[in-house]
Amino acid sequence: MTSSRIWGGRFAGGPSDIMERINASIGFDRRLAGQDIVASMAHCRMLAARGIIDSESADAILDGLEAIRQEIDTGRFEFKRSLEDIHMNVESRLRDLIGEAAGRLHTARSRNDQVATGFRLWVRDALDRLDAGLRALQSVLIERADSHAGDAVPGFTHLQAAQPVSLGHHLLAYVEMLGRDRSRVRDARARLNECPLGAAALAGTSFPIDREMTAAELAFDRPMANSLDAVSDRDFALDYLATAGIAAVHLSRLAEEMVIWASVQFGFVRLPDSFSTGSSIMPQKRNPDAAELVRAKAGRVIGDLNALLIVMKGLPLAYSKDMQEDKEPVFEAADTLDLCLAAMTGMMAEVGFDTDRMRAACGAGFLTATDLADWLVRARGMPFRDAHHVTGALVKLAEARGVGLTDLSPDDLASVSPEIGAEALAVLGLDASLASRTSFGGSAPDNVRAACAAARARFLATETAP
Ligand code: ARG
Repeated sequence: MTSSRIWGGRFAGGPSDIMERINASIGFDRRLAGQDIVASMAHCRMLAARGIIDSESADAILDGLEAIRQEIDTGRFEFKRSLEDIHMNVESRLRDLIGEAAGRLHTARSRNDQVATGFRLWVRDALDRLDAGLRALQSVLIERADSHAGDAVPGFTHLQAAQPVSLGHHLLAYVEMLGRDRSRVRDARARLNECPLGAAALAGTSFPIDREMTAAELAFDRPMANSLDAVSDRDFALDYLATAGIAAVHLSRLAEEMVIWASVQFGFVRLPDSFSTGSSIMPQKRNPDAAELVRAKAGRVIGDLNALLIVMKGLPLAYSKDMQEDKEPVFEAADTLDLCLAAMTGMMAEVGFDTDRMRAACGAGFLTATDLADWLVRARGMPFRDAHHVTGALVKLAEARGVGLTDLSPDDLASVSPEIGAEALAVLGLDASLASRTSFGGSAPDNVRAACAAARARFLATETAP
């Protein structure tokens, strides 16, 4: 056992079972297999190109790595905990397959730059997947927003009905959030895209390697400039988790609105059967479980960011084994977020909006009171603070009578202020109120239609992050 270990040369005994359990990462870093092999292939080609290893060995290594890739893809590869991690599992299998030449692959390289490279490649793919997922949800929301540009829904502050807004406008608010998430993805990707391979253990190497070549082959923009930084940096994982955490928070807010809107008391939406469950005891219930879980799962992603920040905090240069703890939070966050995005995309594509109920809800709670105050400013030249006061008195009167503002008679209006004529009633109507919000970024239906077209151009014109 001892001598078969890749690092076993100076050890007389093997690790205890507990040591093996705490040390092994193969249970999770097997997910880096594809990236590990691709990076090893690039390294091997570079070593041969620079004459550091002979071309027969390089060919044997490349064939062996390809065979291993197929074994892994077809589920025939046997992962061994005794071999610790994915890097040593692959290398050990390479030795089984091609013999002694396998030992040449690790020239001018260390597991430290190897894992940094493989993990970067994995996170880069995760960022691309995240961008695609965010884009798909944006696309659904833009389509739905366009069809509901003219439908009114109460807009809330403090979860108190505030002013009517366009339902489309409400949905487009999420499109903006997701757009910022995508721009964080783009930034994170650009910062990530430097290659650590060739930093070796920490100091670089005495072999005449070509770091530009491996960087280019793995589609990195350039090699990382400092070997110590290259093997000790996990900012790319933190960037991913921070980006994922913020995106998860956005999804949780949308999910929470679906939970509230789906309640019987609101009744603004009917969640599709495919994203609801029934109650085992109360036959009348339709529970918004998927939305609730999206709301809750943000906690995991935030926890994952927190976990890795704490792992990295205070670590001295360069590599420390602590950093093996970088992968599980990232894998968990990626799996969680991919699933939450898929759930919200499916849900938002099919959710039924009860626009009649939304419209009726705009009639309760004096949502157009601000419009009257604005009218007093515009038509009567009243200072806004006075107009606010007068309108407040009118709301009080209507409330006491149990009627809406539009139900008050011209005499009622005049009793509160002689400035308010019957013509003021026109601005209290829902559609007039909605249509009047024409300021840039405002909620008027025509604005919203234009905003949908702009959002398509900004976010959907290309496949990649805007
Ligand atoms: N499994 C290790 C990790 O994920 C690979 C690097 C090990 N390096 C070392 N010097 N022991 O961090």
